[in-house]
Amino acid sequence: MAGDENWVDIGSAEEFSQTPIKRVTAMKRELAISLKDGKFGAVSNTCNHVGGPLGNGRLDGDYIVCPWHNWKFHRCSGLGEPGFEEDRVPAYPVKIESGRVLVNLNAGSKRQKAPHAPHPLSRKVERAPGPLRLAGISTSAMDAANPRFSGSDHLLEHALKAAKGLGAETRMIKLNDLNFHACEGYYSKAAQACTWPCSITQMDAKDQMDQVYEALVHWADAIIISSPIRWGAASSLYFKMAERLNCVQNAVTIRNQVLIRNKVAGFIIVGGQDNIQAVAGQMLGFFAELGFIFPQFPYIAHSRGWSREDMERNVEIVRTSTELAEGASMLAKRCLDLAAHLISCDEAPASIERGGRKAHAIAP
Ligand code: FES
Repeated sequence: MAGDENWVDIGSAEEFSQTPIKRVTAMKRELAISLKDGKFGAVSNTCNHVGGPLGNGRLDGDYIVCPWHNWKFHRCSGLGEPGFEEDRVPAYPVKIESGRVLVNLNAGSKRQKAPHAPHPLSRKVERAPGPLRLAGISTSAMDAANPRFSGSDHLLEHALKAAKGLGAETRMIKLNDLNFHACEGYYSKAAQACTWPCSITQMDAKDQMDQVYEALVHWADAIIISSPIRWGAASSLYFKMAERLNCVQNAVTIRNQVLIRNKVAGFIIVGGQDNIQAVAGQMLGFFAELGFIFPQFPYIAHSRGWSREDMERNVEIVRTSTELAEGASMLAKRCLDLAAHLISCDEAPASIERGGRKAHAIAP
């Protein structure tokens, strides 16, 4: 073997002709081997972004599209797509001899990562000094051009008003007003493909889920989520948000990065019929896994019961009930009191030796 030559046989040309791109291991090196118009290409299998497997990607012309977040690299030169050439992965010479494909592992080009400005959400999570901060998240869906009365929104507004009266800063986020993607299942590709900040947030500057991330991870000391009951479950917008919050939990599981510390969550649940306890159970379970702490009696709720079919009456009850309004105000107070206590103690761990609910060691 000459100094700059280490031709390694990676298989028969006939075998590679079956598929335009294939992942192979040669002398412990992972490669993405491609074939187009009779010409072979060999580049590192490892994407520059967060290590996606290029050999499992697809070809777009002469570019390999990473299967995780769609970055592109030239299948022969390893250069990034036009405009991003400086972001390049190692490329290797290829030759065919006697129907065998050989790659020179000693002559790979150098990997080069172009600097990328970090996403603002990826900054260190540190509580900014100042008064307590309560974010209300409304998950009620409606026609924005012709809004209706929402019982859960109404009670959330009472909670925020009470928080303000207690000296807290408040912020209301109505998911109905935000334009955001449904989770596109990066976690289903690979745990590492589900990134913090969310892959979608990093790729689409117009996606407005960043407002929820900013409030939950960086701004708020306490949050109150309000939801109507829809067919025995929280609202569809609630679940759309919850799926996008997978990245917050996944940061704990795969990177030992606890983003939610010393923060409190409470809930407001309003339904025409019933299933309050099941809705609350899901919410409590999910927000516990994100790292939130709950006050004593962490939710208030109201429903008319299974046999009622008089929603107009239900709406009127919620609108005029001083008890429900006071209940919402007291929930806000319980959340803020606990948040103040947690902040003063600052005992929540910033890392955890096991991946939260998994109880498994965190993968290296
Ligand atoms: S685009 Fe390849 S890992 Fe993200």
